[in-house]
Amino acid sequence: MTDFSRTDLDKETITKAYARWAPVYDLVFGPVFERGRHAAIAAASRIGGRILEVGVGTGISLPEYDRCHRLCGVDISEPMLRKAQERVKEFGLTNVEGLWVMDAEHLSFPDASFDVVVAQYVVTTVPNPEATLDEFARVLKPGGEIVLVSRVGAEVGLRRTLEKWFAPAARKLGWRTEFSWERYARWAERTQDVRLVERRAMPPFGHFSLIRFAKGVESAVDRPRQPARAAG
Ligand SMILES: C[S@@+](CC[C@H](N)C(=O)[O-])C[C@H]1O[C@@H](n2cnc3c(N)ncnc32)[C@H](O)[C@@H]1O
Repeated sequence: MTDFSRTDLDKETITKAYARWAPVYDLVFGPVFERGRHAAIAAASRIGGRILEVGVGTGISLPEYDRCHRLCGVDISEPMLRKAQERVKEFGLTNVEGLWVMDAEHLSFPDASFDVVVAQYVVTTVPNPEATLDEFARVLKPGGEIVLVSRVGAEVGLRRTLEKWFAPAARKLGWRTEFSWERYARWAERTQDVRLVERRAMPPFGHFSLIRFAKGVESAVDRPRQPARAAG
């Protein structure tokens, strides 16, 4: 059985890695993750309202949101966040409420603060993914959604072998290659009031997934439309 209590990534490694990535991040990971980001933003926008982007990085997705949504961003890496601040200024993003250096595992927002929590390419980079997902669920309002774009590791076959082989190098670069679907599924199973509403493969090569969890009451998006009541 897999021991999920042992963490295989630490925050020092992550902050060092993303300090190195910050100057070139958009160039290297801009186009490759573009379709996943578009899908996540579209999903988040269907709920709308006050949106938290965790691991907002260089703020690459911030200009993509419709300006009617209020955005908050947090990231553990100050150099990445400085890039995001420059972007907010450059694009005049007045709908961005704030950007904060903050650890995803210990969000300093009160319970039920956001309509949507978005984390793109983040969950497999944090030391304790399940504790991080717990925080997402805590700060989310009932009726809201957690929208992830995240790596899902292969269970079998050549890709699984390659992921295992590349894992130590990937950790130094700032992420995990091995991360089974079982971990997301088990988290949702044991978390009260949270249910999976979508899992959809994303490029490159379907190695990533768009994953949506809804909290509490049915989300506005999934709720079947009520037939209009007859007048009189
Ligand atoms: C692969 S990048 C993704 C950036 C951005 N979301 C995107 O779509 O390109 C992962 C981001 O998560 C941040 N991160 C990693 N661990 C974190 C943590 N514990 N708390 C907050 N942010 C974290 C990193 O600093 C980095 O900016």
